[in-house]
Amino acid sequence: MRRPFIAANWKMNKTVPEAMDFIYSFLPSVEEVTDADIVIAPPFTALFGIAERLAGTNVRLSAQNVFYEEKGAFTGEVSPLMLVDVGCEYVLVGHSERRQYFGETDDIVNRKIRIAQKNGLNVIFCVGETLKERESGRTYNVLRTQTVNGLKDADVKKLVVAYEPVWAIGTGKTATPEQAQDAHKYIRNTLREVYPGDADSIRILYGGSVTPENVDSLMACADVDGALVGGASLKPDSFEKIVNFTRGN
Ligand code: 13P
Repeated sequence: MRRPFIAANWKMNKTVPEAMDFIYSFLPSVEEVTDADIVIAPPFTALFGIAERLAGTNVRLSAQNVFYEEKGAFTGEVSPLMLVDVGCEYVLVGHSERRQYFGETDDIVNRKIRIAQKNGLNVIFCVGETLKERESGRTYNVLRTQTVNGLKDADVKKLVVAYEPVWAIGTGKTATPEQAQDAHKYIRNTLREVYPGDADSIRILYGGSVTPENVDSLMACADVDGALVGGASLKPDSFEKIVNFTRGN
Protein backbone atom coordinates (compact mmCIF):
# COMPACT_ATOMS: atom_id res chain seq x y z
CA MET A 1 0.00 0.00 0.00
CA ARG A 2 1.46 3.33 -1.05
CA ARG A 3 1.11 6.30 1.29
CA PRO A 4 -1.40 8.84 -0.15
CA PHE A 5 0.13 12.07 -1.43
CA ILE A 6 -2.12 15.13 -1.72
CA ALA A 7 -0.67 18.27 -3.27
CA ALA A 8 -2.00 21.77 -3.94
CA ASN A 9 -0.82 23.63 -7.02
CA TRP A 10 -1.88 27.23 -6.61
CA LYS A 11 -0.53 28.24 -10.02
CA MET A 12 -0.37 32.05 -10.44
CA ASN A 13 -2.75 32.83 -7.59
CA LYS A 14 -2.53 34.51 -4.14
CA THR A 15 -0.62 37.48 -2.83
CA VAL A 16 1.53 36.94 0.27
CA PRO A 17 -1.25 38.02 2.70
CA GLU A 18 -3.74 35.77 0.91
CA ALA A 19 -1.32 32.86 1.05
CA MET A 20 -0.70 33.39 4.78
CA ASP A 21 -4.45 33.59 5.47
CA PHE A 22 -4.89 30.24 3.75
CA ILE A 23 -2.11 28.63 5.77
CA TYR A 24 -3.41 29.92 9.10
CA SER A 25 -6.86 28.48 8.56
CA PHE A 26 -5.72 25.29 6.77
CA LEU A 27 -3.05 24.00 9.16
CA PRO A 28 -5.29 23.34 12.19
CA SER A 29 -7.76 21.44 9.99
CA VAL A 30 -5.15 18.86 8.95
CA GLU A 31 -2.87 18.69 11.97
CA GLU A 32 -4.20 15.26 12.95
CA VAL A 33 -3.51 13.75 9.54
CA THR A 34 -0.64 11.31 9.90
CA ASP A 35 -1.43 8.85 7.12
CA ALA A 36 -0.80 11.05 4.06
CA ASP A 37 1.82 13.39 2.66
CA ILE A 38 0.43 16.91 2.29
CA VAL A 39 2.24 19.36 0.03
CA ILE A 40 1.50 22.95 -1.01
CA ALA A 41 3.00 24.66 -4.07
CA PRO A 42 2.46 28.42 -3.78
CA PRO A 43 3.91 30.99 -6.20
CA PHE A 44 7.59 31.87 -5.65
CA THR A 45 6.78 35.14 -3.88
CA ALA A 46 4.95 33.36 -1.05
CA LEU A 47 7.49 30.57 -0.45
CA PHE A 48 9.55 32.32 2.18
CA GLY A 49 6.68 33.39 4.41
CA ILE A 50 4.92 30.06 4.14
CA ALA A 51 8.11 28.08 4.84
CA GLU A 52 8.47 29.79 8.20
CA ARG A 53 4.90 28.91 9.15
CA LEU A 54 5.16 25.28 7.97
CA ALA A 55 8.29 24.51 9.99
CA GLY A 56 7.56 21.65 12.39
CA THR A 57 4.14 20.87 10.87
CA ASN A 58 2.93 17.94 8.76
CA VAL A 59 2.66 20.06 5.59
CA ARG A 60 5.59 20.26 3.16
CA LEU A 61 6.51 22.99 0.70
CA SER A 62 6.90 22.74 -3.07
CA ALA A 63 7.86 25.21 -5.78
CA GLN A 64 6.00 25.24 -9.08
CA ASN A 65 9.07 25.51 -11.29
CA VAL A 66 12.86 25.48 -11.26
CA PHE A 67 15.62 26.36 -13.72
CA TYR A 68 18.02 23.73 -15.06
CA GLU A 69 21.23 25.47 -13.95
CA GLU A 70 22.46 26.15 -10.42
CA LYS A 71 23.49 29.79 -10.86
CA GLY A 72 24.63 32.41 -13.33
CA ALA A 73 23.39 34.93 -15.85
CA PHE A 74 19.84 33.66 -16.30
CA THR A 75 17.74 36.73 -15.62
CA GLY A 76 14.41 35.95 -14.03
CA GLU A 77 15.07 32.29 -13.30
CA VAL A 78 15.16 30.52 -9.93
CA SER A 79 17.75 27.85 -9.16
CA PRO A 80 17.29 24.61 -7.24
CA LEU A 81 19.74 25.86 -4.59
CA MET A 82 17.51 28.86 -3.95
CA LEU A 83 14.46 26.63 -3.56
CA VAL A 84 16.23 24.43 -1.02
CA ASP A 85 17.51 27.56 0.73
CA VAL A 86 13.99 28.96 1.10
CA GLY A 87 12.63 25.70 2.55
CA CYS A 88 11.24 23.74 -0.41
CA GLU A 89 11.42 19.96 -0.33
CA TYR A 90 9.56 19.46 -3.62
CA VAL A 91 9.28 21.02 -7.04
CA LEU A 92 6.76 20.52 -9.85
CA VAL A 93 8.35 19.74 -13.19
CA GLY A 94 6.74 19.08 -16.57
CA HIS A 95 3.35 20.62 -15.83
CA SER A 96 1.33 20.87 -19.05
CA GLU A 97 1.02 24.64 -18.64
CA ARG A 98 4.84 24.88 -18.71
CA ARG A 99 4.98 22.59 -21.72
CA GLN A 100 2.17 24.44 -23.52
CA TYR A 101 2.86 28.11 -22.77
CA PHE A 102 6.60 28.10 -22.15
CA GLY A 103 7.76 25.56 -24.71
CA GLU A 104 9.21 23.07 -22.24
CA THR A 105 10.29 19.97 -24.11
CA ASP A 106 10.95 16.52 -22.65
CA ASP A 107 14.65 17.39 -22.76
CA ILE A 108 14.20 20.57 -20.71
CA VAL A 109 11.94 18.70 -18.30
CA ASN A 110 14.61 16.02 -17.90
CA ARG A 111 17.36 18.60 -17.22
CA LYS A 112 15.18 20.25 -14.59
CA ILE A 113 14.43 16.93 -12.90
CA ARG A 114 18.09 15.93 -12.73
CA ILE A 115 19.37 19.23 -11.35
CA ALA A 116 16.52 19.48 -8.84
CA GLN A 117 17.20 15.97 -7.53
CA LYS A 118 20.96 16.56 -7.48
CA ASN A 119 20.28 19.44 -5.09
CA GLY A 120 18.11 17.30 -2.83
CA LEU A 121 14.66 18.25 -4.08
CA ASN A 122 11.91 15.69 -4.60
CA VAL A 123 10.25 16.08 -7.97
CA ILE A 124 6.55 15.94 -8.76
CA PHE A 125 6.85 14.99 -12.42
CA CYS A 126 3.76 15.72 -14.54
CA VAL A 127 2.69 13.91 -17.70
CA GLY A 128 -0.56 13.94 -19.65
CA GLU A 129 -2.16 13.93 -23.07
CA THR A 130 -4.15 16.67 -24.79
CA LEU A 131 -7.72 16.11 -26.01
CA LYS A 132 -6.48 15.91 -29.60
CA GLU A 133 -3.94 13.26 -28.63
CA ARG A 134 -6.58 11.25 -26.77
CA GLU A 135 -9.09 11.48 -29.59
CA SER A 136 -6.55 10.34 -32.13
CA GLY A 137 -5.66 7.29 -30.04
CA ARG A 138 -2.21 8.51 -29.03
CA THR A 139 -2.65 8.65 -25.24
CA TYR A 140 -0.39 5.69 -24.41
CA ASN A 141 2.23 6.82 -26.86
CA VAL A 142 2.36 10.33 -25.36
CA LEU A 143 2.47 9.03 -21.78
CA ARG A 144 5.24 6.61 -22.66
CA THR A 145 7.36 9.19 -24.49
CA GLN A 146 6.99 11.84 -21.77
CA THR A 147 7.76 9.32 -19.02
CA VAL A 148 10.77 7.63 -20.60
CA ASN A 149 12.36 10.83 -21.93
CA GLY A 150 11.60 12.91 -18.86
CA LEU A 151 13.01 10.37 -16.42
CA LYS A 152 16.31 9.56 -18.13
CA ASP A 153 18.91 9.21 -15.34
CA ALA A 154 16.44 10.49 -12.73
CA ASP A 155 16.52 9.29 -9.12
CA VAL A 156 13.57 7.03 -8.30
CA LYS A 157 13.86 7.82 -4.58
CA LYS A 158 13.09 11.50 -5.10
CA LEU A 159 10.15 11.09 -7.42
CA VAL A 160 6.37 11.31 -7.51
CA VAL A 161 4.57 11.13 -10.87
CA ALA A 162 1.39 13.07 -11.63
CA TYR A 163 -0.95 12.07 -14.45
CA GLU A 164 -2.77 15.19 -15.55
CA PRO A 165 -4.84 14.81 -18.72
CA VAL A 166 -4.66 18.28 -20.26
CA TRP A 167 -8.36 18.18 -21.22
CA ALA A 168 -9.30 17.78 -17.54
CA ILE A 169 -7.25 20.68 -16.17
CA GLY A 170 -9.36 23.62 -15.07
CA THR A 171 -12.26 22.42 -17.23
CA GLY A 172 -14.46 20.78 -14.62
CA LYS A 173 -14.19 17.66 -16.81
CA THR A 174 -12.61 15.00 -14.61
CA ALA A 175 -11.31 11.74 -16.00
CA THR A 176 -13.60 8.92 -14.93
CA PRO A 177 -12.07 6.57 -12.36
CA GLU A 178 -11.80 3.99 -15.17
CA GLN A 179 -9.92 6.41 -17.44
CA ALA A 180 -7.63 7.46 -14.59
CA GLN A 181 -6.91 3.88 -13.53
CA ASP A 182 -6.20 2.85 -17.11
CA ALA A 183 -3.68 5.68 -17.63
CA HIS A 184 -2.08 5.17 -14.20
CA LYS A 185 -1.65 1.47 -14.84
CA TYR A 186 -0.06 2.20 -18.19
CA ILE A 187 2.30 4.73 -16.58
CA ARG A 188 3.23 2.22 -13.88
CA ASN A 189 4.02 -0.40 -16.49
CA THR A 190 6.17 2.15 -18.30
CA LEU A 191 7.93 2.97 -15.03
CA ARG A 192 8.84 -0.72 -14.78
CA GLU A 193 10.96 -0.24 -17.89
CA VAL A 194 12.72 2.82 -16.44
CA TYR A 195 13.09 1.51 -12.89
CA PRO A 196 12.88 -2.27 -12.89
CA GLY A 197 12.11 -3.32 -9.35
CA ASP A 198 10.96 0.10 -8.05
CA ALA A 199 7.84 0.89 -10.06
CA ASP A 200 5.46 -0.51 -7.44
CA SER A 201 6.65 1.92 -4.79
CA ILE A 202 6.34 5.10 -6.90
CA ARG A 203 3.30 7.22 -6.10
CA ILE A 204 1.23 8.25 -9.14
CA LEU A 205 -1.10 11.19 -8.49
CA TYR A 206 -4.13 12.14 -10.54
CA GLY A 207 -4.65 15.81 -11.44
CA GLY A 208 -7.44 17.51 -13.39
CA SER A 209 -10.57 19.01 -11.81
CA VAL A 210 -10.22 17.06 -8.55
CA THR A 211 -12.85 18.20 -6.03
CA PRO A 212 -14.08 17.09 -2.59
CA GLU A 213 -16.95 15.40 -4.46
CA ASN A 214 -14.91 13.23 -6.83
CA VAL A 215 -11.76 12.56 -4.80
CA ASP A 216 -13.07 9.39 -3.11
CA SER A 217 -13.86 7.58 -6.35
CA LEU A 218 -10.50 8.52 -7.84
CA MET A 219 -8.55 7.52 -4.73
CA ALA A 220 -10.34 4.16 -4.71
CA CYS A 221 -8.52 3.18 -7.94
CA ALA A 222 -5.71 0.68 -7.43
CA ASP A 223 -3.01 2.77 -9.10
CA VAL A 224 -4.17 6.24 -8.02
CA ASP A 225 -2.01 7.14 -5.03
CA GLY A 226 -2.85 10.78 -4.58
CA ALA A 227 -4.09 14.00 -6.11
CA LEU A 228 -2.56 17.15 -7.57
CA VAL A 229 -5.19 19.81 -7.09
CA GLY A 230 -5.47 23.20 -8.77
CA GLY A 231 -8.69 25.20 -8.42
CA ALA A 232 -10.08 23.24 -5.47
CA SER A 233 -6.87 23.81 -3.49
CA LEU A 234 -7.31 27.58 -3.37
CA LYS A 235 -9.83 27.47 -0.52
CA PRO A 236 -8.74 25.93 2.79
CA ASP A 237 -12.03 24.13 3.39
CA SER A 238 -12.19 22.41 0.02
CA PHE A 239 -8.50 21.40 0.09
CA GLU A 240 -8.91 20.12 3.65
CA LYS A 241 -11.82 17.93 2.48
CA ILE A 242 -9.65 16.50 -0.28
CA VAL A 243 -6.83 15.75 2.20
CA ASN A 244 -9.42 14.05 4.40
CA PHE A 245 -10.84 11.92 1.56
CA THR A 246 -12.51 8.69 2.67
CA ARG A 247 -9.82 6.08 3.29
CA GLY A 248 -10.55 2.55 2.11
CA ASN A 249 -9.26 -0.57 3.80
P1 13P B 1 -7.42 21.90 -11.67
O1 13P B 1 -7.58 21.10 -10.40
O2 13P B 1 -7.78 23.34 -11.52
O3 13P B 1 -8.09 21.24 -12.83
O4 13P B 1 -5.83 21.92 -12.00
C1 13P B 1 -5.14 20.73 -12.03
C2 13P B 1 -3.69 21.02 -12.13
O5 13P B 1 -3.20 21.45 -13.16
C3 13P B 1 -2.84 20.78 -10.95
O6 13P B 1 -1.50 20.84 -11.26
